[in-house]
Amino acid sequence: MTQIQDIAARAQRLREEIERHNYLYYVLDAPEIPDAEFDKLFRELERLEAENPPLATPDSPTQRVGAAPLTAFSQVTHRVPMLSLNNAFEDEEVAAFDRRAREGLRVEEIEYAVEPKFDGLAISLAYENGVLVQGATRGNGYTGEDVTSNLRTVKAIPLRLHVERPPRLLEVRGEVLILKKDFDRLNRQQRERGEKEFANPRNAAAGSLRQLDPRITASRPLTFFAYGLGSTEGVDLPPTQSGVMDFLETLRVPVSRERQVVRGLAGLLEYYAAIGARRAGLSYDIDGVVYKVNDLAWQDQLGFVARAPRFAVAHKFAAQEATTKLVGIDVQVGRTGTLTPVARLHPVFVGGVTVASATLHNQDEIDRKDVRVGDTVIVRRAGDVIPEVVGVVLKERPHPEPERFNILEKYPVCPVCGSHVIRLPDEAAVRCSGELVCPAQRKQAILHFASRRAMDIEGFGDKLVDQLVDKELIHSAADIYKLGMSALANLERMGEKSAGKVLAAIESSKKTTLARFIYALGIRNVGESTARDLARHFGGLDALMVADEEALQQVADVGPVVAQSIVQFFAEAHNREVIAQLVAAGIHWPKGAEGGHAAAGAASGKTFVLTGTLPNLTRDEAKEKIEASGGKVSGSVSAKTDYVVAGAEPGSKLARAQELGVAILDEAGLMELLEGKA
Ligand code: IVH
Repeated sequence: MTQIQDIAARAQRLREEIERHNYLYYVLDAPEIPDAEFDKLFRELERLEAENPPLATPDSPTQRVGAAPLTAFSQVTHRVPMLSLNNAFEDEEVAAFDRRAREGLRVEEIEYAVEPKFDGLAISLAYENGVLVQGATRGNGYTGEDVTSNLRTVKAIPLRLHVERPPRLLEVRGEVLILKKDFDRLNRQQRERGEKEFANPRNAAAGSLRQLDPRITASRPLTFFAYGLGSTEGVDLPPTQSGVMDFLETLRVPVSRERQVVRGLAGLLEYYAAIGARRAGLSYDIDGVVYKVNDLAWQDQLGFVARAPRFAVAHKFAAQEATTKLVGIDVQVGRTGTLTPVARLHPVFVGGVTVASATLHNQDEIDRKDVRVGDTVIVRRAGDVIPEVVGVVLKERPHPEPERFNILEKYPVCPVCGSHVIRLPDEAAVRCSGELVCPAQRKQAILHFASRRAMDIEGFGDKLVDQLVDKELIHSAADIYKLGMSALANLERMGEKSAGKVLAAIESSKKTTLARFIYALGIRNVGESTARDLARHFGGLDALMVADEEALQQVADVGPVVAQSIVQFFAEAHNREVIAQLVAAGIHWPKGAEGGHAAAGAASGKTFVLTGTLPNLTRDEAKEKIEASGGKVSGSVSAKTDYVVAGAEPGSKLARAQELGVAILDEAGLMELLEGKA
């Protein structure tokens, strides 16, 4: 052998190896070698071909991408038309199909080849002497578009059939699609690049296949499954549909693993139910199953009516997506005050139920999908989840175009309570600002108000709050202090005794601290520690209520976002009213001391870090004591830490303290320090 023959033989071996690994990876999902090793083979082939250009044959795996962008697709006439299937939705329609076929063939029972109905795009692949020469879309069934360069980039599609003596012509028919997992990744990528997301894998596959630049198609995770043949020459085919599929599999043409052979109507319906049950777990979207008379001679005998075969039928699942008119957009106010836009739809049957409303998620999603009232929209219902609007059918948008929808413009005030609606910077959600008065938020707000670290009203849990709000005995936190024995004792699971306890707890909660009270108000972004800083800084409620954003930002840890939520909260008349009522009810706190200006205790100005379990005090108790004495508790040890208080099983914080030479105390040491003895 000459050297060039050696090289040609090596290149041939590499091509076969690479195609085999492609098949293992992209079709069987069972790679045998790591990516790095595959890349090595690929690079070796690239190098050989670069050094010996005649070796770079069109069927080489290195030649999948590389065709120049087109200005338009040319037309392809299908040698055998790509017809459609009749649909069946009900079992009776399937029974009628089976009966007609049995009558047409004059047989008792029919064997069927059955498989999923792929929810992708029909294509036809022409292999001449084993080499892929043309790929076309279905088009109108008689002529389609030549998308050969694009289909060559689909790794699951073999560029050469795996067979010693290839047929002169073999037209493979099947569907191009995107696997669910690849779809999720693709959309994430689109989002990150600020490009339009696809409504579903089918649309993504269609959009990807109709790109004039094959490099774009190559970047999309398309795959392929064959379901039959078109025109063939020079090949002895097996006598059955299932045999043809097995034959295609030996050629390394991807075929569905879910395909089966069943007998009679009972076999068909059993298969339908079985695939239906496994649908969600399949790696690709399907919209039904397809039944084909297995015997090809019988298929010929049955022939076609109009544009669909008598020997096959598609048994569809109830649609999961449907298009309908968007009649209006309402909003729903959730427990945390978020206004969720809800599409009001012309009722449509989707996935087995009639749907008249669907979620639009939030303003960003409305903008991204450019959904406008009056549009024809695509509604999806997946399983039992809330139906959602996934996109707009733009070409059906009315003229003149409806305006863009903006929640804030349509709902400047909350539809439930009339408080102002706001959108905070960096938040997708639009919310109602009437945090203490909006009924939709009331339960949550009241629960928070009464909670242990806020006003600490014992026995004021969710069961009680649910009843009180539902029976309209309380509307806001202020109403808690108006509750009397008769109202409480009449509630479920409440006697006079427990009602008495609750009333006592309400009474004793009136004596509190300013920090607790501020925290109890439930201002967005104001947690316990911010509430404490605010109490210290302003010393009283009046000063806090009139502070502007600039003044608020003088407080440590209060930035523009927190400052804005505080200003917005106190700007709301409803909120000011509730506060006035609370104060009038007798809620009070010590002026100047713990809740007011910084306590001038022994720990004043010192920073503590707690780690491990203390013998007598809980974390919270230790923290309260330190803070009552003017100290601050921080979560992590740094050079600024004054003391680390260590209990049993301390964490890495102790080690860090030792490293930095920070003073270490045990519980007794802490108590001595706080009592001014240390
Ligand atoms: S067999 C004579 N099998 O459904 C037609 N079609 O309505 C033979 N489809 O455009 C088609 N999965 O692209 C067949 N397993 C499957 C299929 C399938 C999806 C599509 C096909 C065609 C449409 C027919």
